[in-house]
Amino acid sequence: MSSSKIYKLFINGKWINSESGETFPSINPTNEKVIGKFQKGNEEDVDKAVEAAEKAFKKWSEVPTPKRGLILLKIAQLLKQNKEKLARELTMEMGKVIEEARGDVQEAIDMAEYMAGEGRRLFGYTTPSELRNKFCMTIRSPVGICGLITPWNFPFAIPAWKIMPALICGNTIVFKPSSDTPLCATRLVEILERAGVPKGVVNLVIGPGGSVGMSIVKHEKVRCISFTGHKDTGKMILKEAGLKKVGLELGGKNGIIVMDDADLNLALDGVIWGGYGTTGQRCTAASRVIVHKKIKKKFERMLVNRIKRLKLGNGLNIKTDVGPLINKQAQEKSAKYTEIGLNEGAKLLIGGKIPKMKGFFFKPTLFTDCSIDMRICQEEIFGPIVSLIPVKDFEEAIEAINSVEYGLSSSIYTNDMSKAFKAIQKIESGITYINSSTIGAEIHLPFGGIKHTGIGTREGGIEGIHEFSETKTVYIDYSGKLQKAQIDVG
Ligand code: UN1
Repeated sequence: MSSSKIYKLFINGKWINSESGETFPSINPTNEKVIGKFQKGNEEDVDKAVEAAEKAFKKWSEVPTPKRGLILLKIAQLLKQNKEKLARELTMEMGKVIEEARGDVQEAIDMAEYMAGEGRRLFGYTTPSELRNKFCMTIRSPVGICGLITPWNFPFAIPAWKIMPALICGNTIVFKPSSDTPLCATRLVEILERAGVPKGVVNLVIGPGGSVGMSIVKHEKVRCISFTGHKDTGKMILKEAGLKKVGLELGGKNGIIVMDDADLNLALDGVIWGGYGTTGQRCTAASRVIVHKKIKKKFERMLVNRIKRLKLGNGLNIKTDVGPLINKQAQEKSAKYTEIGLNEGAKLLIGGKIPKMKGFFFKPTLFTDCSIDMRICQEEIFGPIVSLIPVKDFEEAIEAINSVEYGLSSSIYTNDMSKAFKAIQKIESGITYINSSTIGAEIHLPFGGIKHTGIGTREGGIEGIHEFSETKTVYIDYSGKLQKAQIDVG
């Protein structure tokens, strides 16, 4: 990697300059230095990428799925061989601490391996017909050209969540990563190329969401959009996409309930990991802690003691606990929400400041005595800010955790089985953890949310296959005569 290098777009199997020839830098958020320059795509580049994806589709979709699986296994192998290098570059490009960066790459490896296995399944089902000598079944077929638009916070994992199922199902791809992490996207596509993904099957167009992203979304020939990112962008995508399959994952305002019977040391680890891991920049981050009044004071003290000891710094240093935010706007957003919290009357227990050091850091922040309607308890901040909401009992805790527009992840710490099971049923979210933090989803289970987190689509697991394939229903009549469903009864 060299800061003067200009990285290119990848279209139709070739690394090429963008139509405009313009470039933009990717910045290391830890030291604010340029780590590389990137070609900036536009609508014309998208057109070229869609054309390449269209040309590649026939041949790719006809490759037997187990054979496509072998390419995915090769991708997994190359990711494994390069895991340490990729994790280090990821840390440099987005500031994630190295242990979490390794986890990010590992999640991509896991997804490639899992979806390779899907190549030998891709199940449909069979069912009896209501008529004699007739057979019914479903099979899965590819959707066509898929537009994959991904965020910067999991620059290997989230693209892999989309690329691997899209590939195994036989689709071709136009991939637009976040402009904050173009190097990670470039590295991933280099590996796809090395693994033998044929030309035109995956095309990388880096560039702004407003032009590149939106022209993929609106493109008549693109049959499916899968987007992870901000709620407002998601709404716009849904409006502009027209008649396409659309998958959306739009963030959260996830809560952890800590009951009075909970193991507080366990809950403490969960809140620190969920609230401040990845500097709070996860869709699944725990930004609200709903705490039983009986243990509130004690738990506050435990949290403050631990937060005090969190070490900010360069994620490459293994002693670092919390890295920087992704960019200056994110840092300013955390400062703005601290001010909002204070103005709303929340009590600041620790943090709330931009530290005096280079990079886009923000001190891990804890508010308490918050009420559910405060903006800091309603809006996604995507920073290291956690708000404690005291409640008097289990019912009030459930009401509090459900008081937001989002519904991605959730958690409850309790040793009472009946409360745990009630929580599973009553919490409005796509994912619920018992005695574990809100983060740490595994790739073979469905990931996604309800309410304004999305529109019901899920990634990972079998649901991940559904997002990138169509169901075809097949009727085979071997009776040798015309049989009429619903009419030939008896
Ligand atoms: C996200 O924050 O967008 O469960 C994804 C987790 C990770 C994925 C998070 N495996 O926190």
